Amino acid sequence: MTRSLILTRMGATPEPALAELPLREPGPGELRIAIDAAALNPLDAKLARGHLADWFPIVLPWVPGTDFAGRVVAVGAGVTGFVPGDEVFGRSDPVAGGAFGPAITLPAGFVARRPAGIDAATAAALVTPAAIALQALDEVAGADGPLVILGSGAVGTALVQIARRGRAVTLSGRHAARLAVHGVQVLAAEGADLAAAIAGAGVVIDTVGGPRQRQVLACLRPGARFLAIAEPLPEDAAVPAGVKAGFAALAGGGGQLDRIAGLAADGVLVPEIASRFGIGDAVAVFGAWTAGRLPARQVMVREG
Ligand SMILES: NC(=O)c1ccc[n+]([C@@H]2O[C@H](COP(=O)([O-])OP(=O)(O)OC[C@H]3O[C@@H](n4cnc5c(N)ncnc54)[C@H](OP(=O)(O)O)[C@@H]3O)[C@@H](O)[C@H]2O)c1
Repeated sequence: MTRSLILTRMGATPEPALAELPLREPGPGELRIAIDAAALNPLDAKLARGHLADWFPIVLPWVPGTDFAGRVVAVGAGVTGFVPGDEVFGRSDPVAGGAFGPAITLPAGFVARRPAGIDAATAAALVTPAAIALQALDEVAGADGPLVILGSGAVGTALVQIARRGRAVTLSGRHAARLAVHGVQVLAAEGADLAAAIAGAGVVIDTVGGPRQRQVLACLRPGARFLAIAEPLPEDAAVPAGVKAGFAALAGGGGQLDRIAGLAADGVLVPEIASRFGIGDAVAVFGAWTAGRLPARQVMVREG
């Protein structure tokens, strides 16, 4: 593919299009990577809709996409450990974006080697969900009491696959069977059932957000921890006495990608990919994704 997906307008009606863009040579410490696969994340939709502009000041036109897998095609000065032809995967800075194009140029520290036997689409689909799952589990390590994971999307699934313990609460019940194979108890909670599903939790990791955050907080006992992933708690949220509540924003680094590669190679992390598409369909797929019509993972793969 030689064209990139670009956004020329953000907001309530973002305007995706395809365009031929010049490729940037890698500067010192950078790699240029030919993209073989790029995965959509909820963050791509939030950014396109103009949310989170204070955190991510995007300049238009912008090529979206953080999570990718591909091959090194050029190596900047001072880079050691990578040579052209290496199969890698990684995560771009959200403001820089760039994964939904033919190639991306970014710091070598943002990529790791893709394990043999893990195809590009699988590697791309893992990056952000597995990275935030690892970070969240690191943050709550050592906390006492049962672990409850709220939500059964890509992050919820990665949490369940890595933790292999605790209770997963799927709000729709649609994914209960898929999660149950990972050795966790799965509860489908709707409405009033949520309190029963949370009861006794020592740690709740919430990948859903929204009004349920307040409901969940109200169910927690003193000493419990609540770690939000989808969005920070509202400033006026009532945190019960003795409950430690916070938000985890993906920090990256610290060997996270190598840990993900190891877990994927060992068969622990297995992402669910709903469908694969080519650059020719990227405008339509991105439009549907930002409109919230495609809840499960979509991965763009190189054509030809
Ligand atoms: N803080 C950070 O740095 C960070 C990093 C990564 C992600 N996030 C955020 O965390 C949240 C969760 O991310 P995610 O990647 O897990 O989102 P996701 O895969 O889109 O899943 C979100 C919810 O969609 C539902 N869902 C998932 N697959 C579905 C399917 N095949 N059909 C129908 N519904 C489906 C699930 O609801 P049910 O449980 O009801 O089935 C799930 O809880 C997002 O808001 C994302 O932006 C934050």
